[in-house]
Amino acid sequence: MIYFDNAATTIQKPRSVKRAVYNAIDTMGNPSRGAHEPALKAARLVYDTRERLARLFGISDPSRIAFALNATDALNMAVNGLVRSSDNIITSMWEHNSVLRPLYARGAKLTLIKSDRLGRHDYTFEVKENTKAIFINHASNVTGNVTDIKRISDIAHKNNALLVVDAAQTAGCTDINVEDMGIDVLCFTGHKGLMGPQGTGGIYVRKGVDIKPFRTGGSGIHSFDKRHPSDMPEALEAGTLNCHGIAGLNAALIFMENIGTENIYGRKKALEKRFISGIEDIKGIRIYGDISAEERACVVTLNIEGISSDVLCDRLWTEYGICTRAGAHCAPLIHKALGTDDIGAVRFSFSYFNTEEEIDKGIQALKEISEL
Ligand code: ALA
Repeated sequence: MIYFDNAATTIQKPRSVKRAVYNAIDTMGNPSRGAHEPALKAARLVYDTRERLARLFGISDPSRIAFALNATDALNMAVNGLVRSSDNIITSMWEHNSVLRPLYARGAKLTLIKSDRLGRHDYTFEVKENTKAIFINHASNVTGNVTDIKRISDIAHKNNALLVVDAAQTAGCTDINVEDMGIDVLCFTGHKGLMGPQGTGGIYVRKGVDIKPFRTGGSGIHSFDKRHPSDMPEALEAGTLNCHGIAGLNAALIFMENIGTENIYGRKKALEKRFISGIEDIKGIRIYGDISAEERACVVTLNIEGISSDVLCDRLWTEYGICTRAGAHCAPLIHKALGTDDIGAVRFSFSYFNTEEEIDKGIQALKEISEL
């Protein structure tokens, strides 16, 4: 099997991740809920993971990060904790349903940042008075295009709006420094580029930004208070954390530190480049997105003329053992911008564990399919 569906989830995890999860299941108590060794061990692990995430994302205070189940969970916290129906909100055509559906459900007044046929943002969008926040995807899960976050953050802050960034596709794929980039809220997942287990992720909230918790309950502190604690990270963490998953994420972060993030990001980018240059000239191929851009998110989406995207995806799997993802990728608006809302497209997405040989087999498979 060749696994090119890493934008959905990575399944080739460092061995240390699996060992850490197993070990945690065997030994971890409940963090912040006991003074015995298993509980303290869990608490130390959680604290250490917050610190590693803070270092990775350029966050000076690790307590501003709360754990979440995934990026969707974190984005639901951000939308439901910040947005009211009377608010003006700006978002983009790149957004995943993880942002769009919570925003639609809140009934907020939305302005959309438009995309062109290459899926690039039009940065000249209007900012209405009293805009509460800009919700923006750091990278499109369909085109792999990357947002110029600094540019959006300057626009947001000039207009007293908050900047909420969906880093589902970029955490573990490209540099993120929330303080340098001016990000007020960052939502990320642990199971994609970060190579941790599913059920892990988190939300960073800048000091001074108040996200009302939509989930309240036990926190291990202030038990006689009828209100949920308002201090981070407890404000956004109710109930027992997924310590077993966090232990895996911790091991994945250590793996990344040991290899060096620049080596990990660089390797993925080199694989993506090799793939693009190998398929560009295939007859009938249509690659979506701005593939000449310097910064990309290790995602290449395409169609071959005369073959529907679901048939192509299925043939790649049944004839070549290659895993890709077809359809609309839960991102309806970017498919509208690309003109693929009727036909969908096939997405190849790469990980640190893919090899040049696998990339070449993927290229060869597309060549053969296009010739038949
Ligand atoms: N959001 C994930 C994807 O793009 C699941 O495939």
